Amino acid sequence: MRLLIMGPPGAGKGTQAVLIKEEYQIPHISTGEMFREAIGNNTCLGIKAKDYIDKGELVPDDVTNELVKERLKHEDTKGGFLLDGYPRTLNQAFALDIILSEFGIFLDAVINVYVPSSIIIDRIVGRRVCPSCGAGYHIKTLKPKVSGICDACGHKLIQREDDTEEIVVNRLRVYEERTKPLLEFYNQKGLLINIDGNGDIIDIFKRIKHTLGGMNDNV
Ligand code: AP5
Ligand code: MG
Repeated sequence: MRLLIMGPPGAGKGTQAVLIKEEYQIPHISTGEMFREAIGNNTCLGIKAKDYIDKGELVPDDVTNELVKERLKHEDTKGGFLLDGYPRTLNQAFALDIILSEFGIFLDAVINVYVPSSIIIDRIVGRRVCPSCGAGYHIKTLKPKVSGICDACGHKLIQREDDTEEIVVNRLRVYEERTKPLLEFYNQKGLLINIDGNGDIIDIFKRIKHTLGGMNDNV
């Protein structure tokens, strides 16, 4: 399956992506994760992206489009993929259409995870992540077995630098202005699936699976 997962910051895209990846055996491609990895490795891309990410602004379209195009050339995407956090602007959506048509492939569905903005700040400010394996936690709703330590690899958990309340407010504004219009773009293509992202993580995943059910025999 070739899927996009969309939604505001903190909607639970990454959390659901881990489950979707496992269920459908497709790579999870998060542009946010790719930028953070580049920042961690101090590459040219990382240095360029850091300025934008630290302010909660979007990395320029040309840089982001090129990154995704290169990633989609990898062999592991042949059986499908899940793009998380891309596209985020109409220009990126147009660029993705061109990339897909060059590769002769189509999207199967665009999953939009929606949550009331009242719970977003709580989710983001309470998020902790493992800098080594990327696993995500929450200080109230998804605690690791040992406080501050990753269950999967034993590393010390950290808070993302853009997860402060001040930056989250800007990320939400940017989402409303630049990313939300894409929902109508994909709705008009008949690809949009709206999923209520409030409630238990597994229940939300079941909603996604149920909605995708008609599209894949393995579900
Ligand atoms: P990115 O990393 O994509 O961040 P984001 O879109 O702001 O989304 P988040 O990762 O913050 O939230 P999420 O929806 O994945 O939530 P999660 O599952 O972690 O992008 C970061 C930055 O990179 C951008 O601001 C931009 O600068 C740049 N960038 C990235 N892509 C770009 C692009 N295409 N173009 C330009 N710039 C780009 O969940 C959040 C928390 O809630 C966790 O703690 C989790 O445990 C908890 N939680 C999840 N689900 C539930 C639930 N059901 N109940 C209770 N808690 C829950
Ligand atoms: Mg994420």
